[in-house]
Amino acid sequence: MSSQDEWWSPWRPNGSSLVLHVDLRPHPDREERALELLDEHERARWKRFVVRGARRRYALCRAALRINLCQRLGCTNDELTFGYREHGKPFAMVNGRPAAASFNVSHSGLHGLIGFAAGSGFGVDLEVRRPDRDFDGIGSRVYGPREQRALADSGPGKAELFYRLWSLKEALIKALGTGFSLSPARFEVPPVMLEGQRSAIFRFPHLPHDQYRLEDLGEPRFAAARAFRLS
Ligand SMILES: CC(C)(COP(=O)(O)OP(=O)(O)OC[C@H]1O[C@@H](n2cnc3c(N)ncnc32)[C@H](O)[C@@H]1OP(=O)(O)O)[C@@H](O)C(=O)NCCC(=O)NCCS
Repeated sequence: MSSQDEWWSPWRPNGSSLVLHVDLRPHPDREERALELLDEHERARWKRFVVRGARRRYALCRAALRINLCQRLGCTNDELTFGYREHGKPFAMVNGRPAAASFNVSHSGLHGLIGFAAGSGFGVDLEVRRPDRDFDGIGSRVYGPREQRALADSGPGKAELFYRLWSLKEALIKALGTGFSLSPARFEVPPVMLEGQRSAIFRFPHLPHDQYRLEDLGEPRFAAARAFRLS
């Protein structure tokens, strides 16, 4: 496959960590090629998505992940499978054995991100900003008191702040791997990030010894964030 046929490209390369942007616009040829790369379990999952957009996002992101993991791990597509941790976080296996590769995937609307990192405890999140949501209502359920106050005071920047907070918190939840089992209202982003700083050190209140680096990767097309464990 030539690079012109690829539907992903490096986005914000940074030292040893790489984030790929995945183009998720409808494209029947790409979708067909992507589907050919999925294994039996992944195809079964693909079939279970009722919404076409969700099918497309899954197939294009999973195939891009496969191709890039094979390059990094020096294996063939047939040798690569995925295992799933307790709350569904996928990890790579080569010939049935866990492989040394840390990655995380996020997709929303027509955009996807695939992040790779050196160590475990890594999460990325991408959220396309929709203007028509009940920001205060949802915020009262998923944000902590300081975050809710910042949202209430945000004026015309409310949608921007809502999605910025959402992506930062979800990147942390995904780095931890717990999914919805940890309420996002139980922790807050570092105060300096509420004031606009783009990155900071973070600790979950219930895990004070684990340090994470949290980064706001947002850009005009979408809100995005990355979190990785430092210790
Ligand atoms: C998977 C989860 C962690 C995120 O789901 P989402 O927002 O629908 O989806 P994203 O596109 O960001 O991420 C999906 C990808 O994350 C990965 N993933 C699945 N479970 C995961 C987990 N427990 N931890 C980390 N990553 C996970 C998968 O690769 C998945 O992609 P795939 O289905 O194509 O393989 C979801 O189960 C969840 O619990 N989200 C918490 C949402 C929340 O409370 N947000 C509030 C923020 S304030």
